[in-house]
Amino acid sequence: MRTAPVRESNIDFVKSESIRIGAVGAGSFGLFALQHFTQVSGVHLVAMAGTHREAAFAMAQRFGIPDLEDIDTLLARDDINLVYIATPPFLHHPQAIKALRAGKHVICEKPLALDLRQADEMIAIARGKNLLVLANLMQRYNPLFESVQRLVESKVLGEFLHGFFENYASDEALGPDHWFWDRTRSGGIFVEHGVHFFDMFSGWLGPGRVVAAQRTLRPGSGLEEQVNCTVSYTGGALVNFYHGFTQPMRMDRQEFRLLFERGDVTLNQWVPIQARIRAVVDEQGTRALTELFPGARLDVTQVFGGKTRAASGRHKPLDIYQQIELSYHSSEHKMHEYGDLLREMFRDQIRWIFNRNHARKLTEQNGRDSLAMALEATSLADEANEALQKQPHSKLAA
Ligand SMILES: NC(=O)c1ccc[n+]([C@@H]2O[C@H](COP(=O)([O-])OP(=O)(O)OC[C@H]3O[C@@H](n4cnc5c(N)ncnc54)[C@H](O)[C@@H]3O)[C@@H](O)[C@H]2O)c1
Repeated sequence: MRTAPVRESNIDFVKSESIRIGAVGAGSFGLFALQHFTQVSGVHLVAMAGTHREAAFAMAQRFGIPDLEDIDTLLARDDINLVYIATPPFLHHPQAIKALRAGKHVICEKPLALDLRQADEMIAIARGKNLLVLANLMQRYNPLFESVQRLVESKVLGEFLHGFFENYASDEALGPDHWFWDRTRSGGIFVEHGVHFFDMFSGWLGPGRVVAAQRTLRPGSGLEEQVNCTVSYTGGALVNFYHGFTQPMRMDRQEFRLLFERGDVTLNQWVPIQARIRAVVDEQGTRALTELFPGARLDVTQVFGGKTRAASGRHKPLDIYQQIELSYHSSEHKMHEYGDLLREMFRDQIRWIFNRNHARKLTEQNGRDSLAMALEATSLADEANEALQKQPHSKLAA
């Protein structure tokens, strides 16, 4: 078992002021996130609003809040300075606008909004009032996200060539009437879920352009259950993104792969807690990789010497000292790691609230950019689907 890279301690950076949260939405994710936000020093949950009374009421009891309020009453309270929105995506924009107009900082669940006009309005109001508005793309706080980012930047394995994210997700908790399947409420799979992964790959590779996309509908019900797209990044490298919500819960699984000239890195789970790096490297390369993935196990598969050090790839000469495999496994349980990311995200954003010179790892721009890619993928997938309807497979074969 490996140890995770050291995180910052829960220092009491909020000296005289505190963050007092009003929560809007209390479903499965809202509860999980609030349990972690409230563990950050100086943070308190003081009020809740939610339209689905039963779930929200249970949560209010958990936090010792006497009763639920409607959103307008909550926003009128002077003792709330930050509103956390964890309702379905179609409510993010109207609720965030109300909260910002009431002078509150806003952290809302991903996606930031359902379209770019909404996202731009939210960002413009927040900037005009010097307030925080953020989509919770907390994956940027994963130590593995940062290790991969440094791997790409350092070019230890050469140029990035190709990548994929394969998401074999469960739909066991998503009954046929769940808002998730209704594009008017969720935005569709690319928008509701894909934004996390568009954001991660943009963090690693820079801005990307969606060049092709597809969707498949479940026979019988017509639910959009699988989507796929290809994104082109600087230099022309392509990455494929697949999301399918089709699996029983116990078979929910994900894999990321980034291929470079001299090796690849594979991450497992959608909040990655495992990494495996396979590579051919010279002496400096072995050292650099062990520094990029601290605590990872190093296995040397082959050692080369003399003439056998010489190799080539992409018509470039290579000098190889070792063929190696590095394995990293966070010592945290997946859900504990997930909790760490939420606390780190919240701490980082609060620092910015109290000090505008603080450089955050995640900003409102990430919410907007990931949404823009998701909308582009959605629209290209629709076009491809329409074309397919006009020219079905049987006709293509004829
Ligand atoms: N950041 C992440 O990793 C992550 C993970 C899961 C979900 N999410 C996001 O969190 C948000 C909520 O997801 P969830 O899985 O908790 O959903 P959920 O259905 O479990 O909870 C939704 C909450 O919104 C309230 N609500 C208010 N008005 C509603 C309405 N008209 N219809 C339905 N619910 C209404 C419900 O009472 C409930 O409290 C979504 O935006 C989702 O994308 C983020």
